[in-house]
Amino acid sequence: MPLQFRAAVLHAPQTPMSIETVHAAALKPTDVLVRIRAAGLCHTDLEVIEGSLRYPLPIVLGHEAAGVVEQVGAAARGVEVGDHVVLSWNPHCGHCFYCDRETPILCEEYLGKGPQAVAFDGESRTTLADRGPLHQLMFLGSFGEYCIVSDQQAIPVPKEIPFDRACLIGCGVMTGVGAALNLGAIAHGDTVMVIGCGAVGLAAVQGARLAGAGKIIAVDLDPAKLTLAARMGATHGVDAAREDAAAVGKQETSGRGVDVVIESAGAASAFRVTAEAVRPGGQIIWLGKIDVNKDVSFRWGSLMQEKRIRRVSYGNTRPRRDFPLLARAYLDGSLLLDDLISRRIRLEEINDGFAALKRGETIRSVVMFD
Ligand SMILES: NC(=O)c1ccc[n+]([C@@H]2O[C@H](COP(=O)([O-])OP(=O)(O)OC[C@H]3O[C@@H](n4cnc5c(N)ncnc54)[C@H](O)[C@@H]3O)[C@@H](O)[C@H]2O)c1
Ligand SMILES: [Zn+2]
Ligand SMILES: [Zn+2]
Repeated sequence: MPLQFRAAVLHAPQTPMSIETVHAAALKPTDVLVRIRAAGLCHTDLEVIEGSLRYPLPIVLGHEAAGVVEQVGAAARGVEVGDHVVLSWNPHCGHCFYCDRETPILCEEYLGKGPQAVAFDGESRTTLADRGPLHQLMFLGSFGEYCIVSDQQAIPVPKEIPFDRACLIGCGVMTGVGAALNLGAIAHGDTVMVIGCGAVGLAAVQGARLAGAGKIIAVDLDPAKLTLAARMGATHGVDAAREDAAAVGKQETSGRGVDVVIESAGAASAFRVTAEAVRPGGQIIWLGKIDVNKDVSFRWGSLMQEKRIRRVSYGNTRPRRDFPLLARAYLDGSLLLDDLISRRIRLEEINDGFAALKRGETIRSVVMFD
């Protein structure tokens, strides 16, 4: 009998997801069936729920997950039954213009098929009983007991890392740590500012620490986030509601401005501060996003003097290289993940989990599956 399992299904924006029984398709040759053990609630899922990010419906959301491989297709490579895996949301074809230029995040097939919200070969892997195919967010759809992915999306990690910690590596942590380690070109002793200390920003703070930054200035509107940032390696905290972050950055650098600034707030005002806070020739990395049809304005002078601006998705990751590395960093104590989990919830509590995320009460809620 074909596999059936429970998943959270979104039928319309701004309505609660419902827990329904879904039917899985038979595995294609390069498919991998993963039993999901933990799945994090990320901002991008919330944007789909709210309707600011549009995908075809009905859809299973969730793109930050870890689980156990239960079955592999006949031609699946690099992963075996029983492996503990973290899922990647960036499958890529390996032979297009952008793959040939070392930028799988711009892969033409990945970007072309993403909006269809199905598997990487263009076909859905799940259906709703008598109501046709279901969509899956970012080639995943991990808010369910199972998820069928392509072999290149199932990345084995050491079995010692607990699933709830491991799942965070699949999006927020990779994005933040990768920005600092893979892209920031942070030199030993540099002053790094991180604006917005949610899951992504707290990971960026840790990436800056791992890269050997001398000073790490964490900026947020919520003092509780600054306390967490200090625990993760920030040497200074700036409450953006009361203090001018750019001025603090200058104070700490003999008036120059910070060497590297990472935006992980997703706010127009924060993007503006990045340009004011960085030194001439310094590096600005934008991770956050706002509604793609909105404008952000800048004081022109703040953009001058050889500043380098880069907007980055997924921390320039190569998942097969980076996911096990981050899992090992957790296991040796150098990457702190425990405090990023605010709540562990059941699938039935997922709508409350997103309400809490919207109210800013949680860093990460993680859905736990037995
Ligand atoms: N680039 C990527 O690949 C990628 C991946 C995941 C998430 N994101 C984006 O990164 C951003 C952060 O994600 P998250 O999950 O950590 O979100 P989050 O909501 O948990 O964290 C955002 C933090 O920014 C703070 N903040 C908001 N406005 C601020 C301001 N003006 N100044 C200073 N701090 C401010 C909030 O208090 C909060 O602590 C979001 O915009 C999200 O969409 C990007
Ligand atoms: Zn995400
Ligand atoms: Zn490609």
